[in-house]
Amino acid sequence: FGKGVGQAVACVGRCDEAPVSFSKDDPVKLPSYIPHEKYCYATLMQYQGKRDEILAELDKANLRGLGGAGFKVADKWRFLLQANGEKVLVINADEGEPGTFKDRYCLESNPHKVIEGALIAADVIEARDIYIYLRDEYAAVRKILEIELPKIDTHGCTIHLRRGAGAYICGEETALLESLEGKRGLPRIKPPYPAQSGLFGRPTLVNNVETLWRVQDILQNGPEAGSRRFYSLSGRINTPGVYEAPVDITADELINSYGGGMIKGHRFKAYLPGGASGGILPASKADLPLSFGSLEDHGCFIGSAAVIVLSDQDNMKNVVQNLMAFFDHESCGQCTPCRVGCEKLSHMLQTTLDQELATELCEVMQDSSICGLGQAAPNPLLCALNHFAEDFT
Ligand code: NAI
Ligand code: SF4
Repeated sequence: FGKGVGQAVACVGRCDEAPVSFSKDDPVKLPSYIPHEKYCYATLMQYQGKRDEILAELDKANLRGLGGAGFKVADKWRFLLQANGEKVLVINADEGEPGTFKDRYCLESNPHKVIEGALIAADVIEARDIYIYLRDEYAAVRKILEIELPKIDTHGCTIHLRRGAGAYICGEETALLESLEGKRGLPRIKPPYPAQSGLFGRPTLVNNVETLWRVQDILQNGPEAGSRRFYSLSGRINTPGVYEAPVDITADELINSYGGGMIKGHRFKAYLPGGASGGILPASKADLPLSFGSLEDHGCFIGSAAVIVLSDQDNMKNVVQNLMAFFDHESCGQCTPCRVGCEKLSHMLQTTLDQELATELCEVMQDSSICGLGQAAPNPLLCALNHFAEDFT
């Protein structure tokens, strides 16, 4: 992982102790742990029962969902307060967006920070069950959680660890819920939102791993902790990795101040701000802030902040072809615009691309697909046609 994130600091300690620190190289070994005694989280203890105070802090920090959609976190939690029935919290740890690996960093370096954030959320919405839906490829994380979870004083919450099964679509919250219920991971039509009817029909809060990390960080360190996020930085740069940086940093700053600049012999040509889904921008637009809402006018979005840097040695038609093949492979096939659209676009990119027909098909997919996969799949193609027409001749 990148150097930018530095030493991880845990917020845990026994009830009668100050919080302890541990190295990200050995997250499992917490010095103060004594067998048969449980960890009590300091920030959780400090804020227990202070629902309004917590929500106010999250509002002040303007914390947005960091799985990708950027929905205001406190507002989503408030939906749960309005719902009737037994509440559930689901931690979405099915990190699958191409180029995204920051949730893995969070869970491998400081799983307790995420779990503490989750227990705080559970306390606010009065959930007694917490489900962790973990990407199955993250075997090291599973091992860490299996060792660490039994050591935690969960204040009466039951934490269930569940394995995903390698489907990108199961990161979509309703497909994830279906999968948790033991069914095929097919996205549901929203509304109803999970906050109203989620896991087993219960009101469900689905939060991403990093979002819960930030909740803990904001409550421990103040609202300014909400002005930073993790970027998964990769591509034609010298030092790829996970970097913690301001939410409004530009791609230029990210590449040069964190990524060590472009690899020798490569000239910066383009970047994907939000993995496969978030579109493609030319280097001339690398001075835009990467904050939520600032890239939409350019047909892109920051999403999970997976910034992939491309160079003059990358042909954009090849890049788009690769991404479309990914969407075609991962489409669950439930709705026609996405199932047929991804397949047709993929085929057209491999043979002859009729740009007018392809653009029309993209619009149909964006307008009528059930979930984010089909709606976002056309983004890279539309961006590339707009900015890199020469690569398609
Ligand atoms: P969304 O905008 O439909 O929903 C965002 C969240 O707000 C959801 O939890 C939804 O339930 C909630 N919500 C929205 N309106 C609501 C209402 N009126 N009442 C109650 N709850 C409401 O976005 P979605 O489809 O959940 O996420 C799309 C994003 O996921 C994309 O931006 C993409 O970047 C990201 N993504 C991330 C991946 C990763 O590996 N981190 C993988 C694939 C996509
Ligand atoms: Fe499945 Fe694609 Fe339709 Fe989503 S948009 S429900 S992934 S077919």
